[in-house]
Amino acid sequence: MDGRLQVFSGTAHPQLAHDIMRMLDAPLGRALVDQWRNGETRIRLEESVRGSDVFVIQPLCTPVNHNIMELLLLIDALKRASADRITAVIPYFAYARQEKKTTGREPISAKVVSNMLVTAGVDRVLAIDLHAPAIEGFFDIPVDHLRGTSLLARRFHKEFDLPVVAVSPDSGGVTRAENFRALTGGSLAIISKRRPSPDETEVIEMVGNVDGQPCVIVDDMISTGSTLVEAAELLAKRGAGQIYAAATHGVFAADAFERIEQSPISRVIVTDSVPIPESRRDMIEVVTIAPMLAEAIMRIHNDMSVSALFS
Ligand code: R5P
Repeated sequence: MDGRLQVFSGTAHPQLAHDIMRMLDAPLGRALVDQWRNGETRIRLEESVRGSDVFVIQPLCTPVNHNIMELLLLIDALKRASADRITAVIPYFAYARQEKKTTGREPISAKVVSNMLVTAGVDRVLAIDLHAPAIEGFFDIPVDHLRGTSLLARRFHKEFDLPVVAVSPDSGGVTRAENFRALTGGSLAIISKRRPSPDETEVIEMVGNVDGQPCVIVDDMISTGSTLVEAAELLAKRGAGQIYAAATHGVFAADAFERIEQSPISRVIVTDSVPIPESRRDMIEVVTIAPMLAEAIMRIHNDMSVSALFS
């Protein structure tokens, strides 16, 4: 890229944006990102972006729809201010679990979000652990899709240094759990679950031996915590030793913290793809994705391969 590198942020996760800029050793782009008194989002760029290679950092965490709107309006403002190329850095991509219709008369919400980003004028997307990798295909622009598994596995290994059973809490997460297992050693167990309703989980069966062994449940995200807690209770019933959990996105919706606190899980490791309250850091260990994102931004800007960061 010939244009200079500029990075802006919405209000979703200022700490992550600042950590990334510290790694890049550059100041964050100046912009007013606020709300009008009637609740509408208000954006104004406070520096020129003409001809620049611009990145916008905004995980789509709570308040989800508000954060999506900020991102869309930032992209539109950058486009109209003649940025040369705009990359949306979306560490957590909301609506990703609605990537297909599960019954009739439902939207495909992840596709709608993708369409809105492209319509607003984004040129590239940088994401981490999209719930469904098929979402990459919803975009007809480049999507760099990083994985958080190796960060979590390395941290787990450093902290606990023991062979564990990597447990996938559902059939869709087997590859992720197997990747984790490959990095930490140990064996694999797979749970089969069904969802009676979107925020409820029911465990059906498990394949693999966990008796007397430490286990780590590996998932892409923790939302209500229902998947995790159901899985942990089954592991406890089957005689597992210490039970840990590792997930890329710690969304912790509703009463997830309380549910996990009362479950057989002794420790949870997540990344900072979304903000994690300081008050919960006693039970939740946080691994930062800032260095990985800073490296990816530098590589994209310098037209270098990003695949080295993919594993
Ligand atoms: C589901 O397929 C995902 O991989 C997660 O297991 C799920 O989204 C977690 O949601 P919750 O915490 O609400 O069970």
